[in-house]
Amino acid sequence: MIHRIREEVKDDLLSRGYSRRQMMRAAMIFGGGATALTLSPEMAFAQGRQAAKVRIGQNECWTGPMAGGARAAAAAIAVSNRYSPNDEHGQLVRAIAAIEKVPEDHIMTWPGSNEALARSVVAFCSPARSLVQADPTYETSGRAAKFLNVPIKNVPLKADYSHDLRAMSTTDGNAGVIYVCNPNNPTGTMTANSEIEWLVNNKPQGSIVVIDEAYIHWTRDYPNNTLSHLAAEGKDVLVMRTFSKIFGMAGMRIGYTMGRPELLAKLRLHDGGSLSNQLPIPSAACAVASITDTASIAARRKTLMENRAMTVDFLTKRGLKLIGPSEANMLMIDWKTKSSKEMQEAFRNQGVQIARVFPTWPTVSRISIGSKEDMEGFFAAFNKVVSA
Ligand SMILES: Cc1ncc(COP(=O)(O)O)c(C=O)c1O
Repeated sequence: MIHRIREEVKDDLLSRGYSRRQMMRAAMIFGGGATALTLSPEMAFAQGRQAAKVRIGQNECWTGPMAGGARAAAAAIAVSNRYSPNDEHGQLVRAIAAIEKVPEDHIMTWPGSNEALARSVVAFCSPARSLVQADPTYETSGRAAKFLNVPIKNVPLKADYSHDLRAMSTTDGNAGVIYVCNPNNPTGTMTANSEIEWLVNNKPQGSIVVIDEAYIHWTRDYPNNTLSHLAAEGKDVLVMRTFSKIFGMAGMRIGYTMGRPELLAKLRLHDGGSLSNQLPIPSAACAVASITDTASIAARRKTLMENRAMTVDFLTKRGLKLIGPSEANMLMIDWKTKSSKEMQEAFRNQGVQIARVFPTWPTVSRISIGSKEDMEGFFAAFNKVVSA
């Protein structure tokens, strides 16, 4: 499992204060396999579980790839005897560059963005340079930091559930990565772009702001609220995206990072870029057809907003406190007198999978917004679980 560590990588890690033990652990992150799985919370949660009737536990899309994407993937399968029949990877990078308005050399693809999140911690944090993150937030960066024994500074979300970026900017003058998930997982709440831009201009010198926009397509102001322009401008940022959410491609494993080339090179240092360039061509072809399909994006946004509003209505009429407002395909419910662990179990007994436990809020559960039928299944289970 432990890949041989290249000399230049060894030099890089040792010069930044990594011990030999930490260095081996960094190699394990790049080696993938079981390590990658435990760093990826949604995927780890999926492993070894019996499929529930209603699956609203992992923030997946309720439906598969867009029709045009599925057709493109099928066509690519037919010519998959070739390594690169139509330069699918190049096509993907060009499509991303056109949509995001960033130069091609500012884009790096991955089999999912978890990979890049974990790598950003290895590349920019160290025993002397912490990871600064909100609490609660998406766990991959924190899990990578914990695994590497890199210091972690947790900064609670503000009362309106946005990131407290003023506190995050000053909590450690030696921060390596400041991770900002926008909208945040698990809350679905937004942090204003003006605040994130302020952070980028006022953060400690040498730290990198990792902006995770996994759920940005679902948000009210999309497409006017992405921060890819900060990557194009060469700021100290890495903007992370995934095809696992609105594009319904979680199992096809594609994500990408936008940032200036010298930052991207640090993410690639450890394997010479081989992983980022080895995407299966049906997945790449599906992504190219999907990212340009504005009509399907709009249709999915509309369905999500309707199903989320229906769910908010159902829950608030029953007196439950929701954390929010959520602009993404998730909602958090505060049961107040029940633990999220017992509610997870109770829903599982009704054939409904809700999310893992977020330890900071032990009475709060996250549900994902699925299809109308999924949500009706959730409502039926709710009526049994809550009135039981
Ligand atoms: C906030 C956030 N970022 C990144 C990811 C990574 O997704 P993937 O590795 O499937 O691209 C997820 C997955 O759930 C997520 O919630």
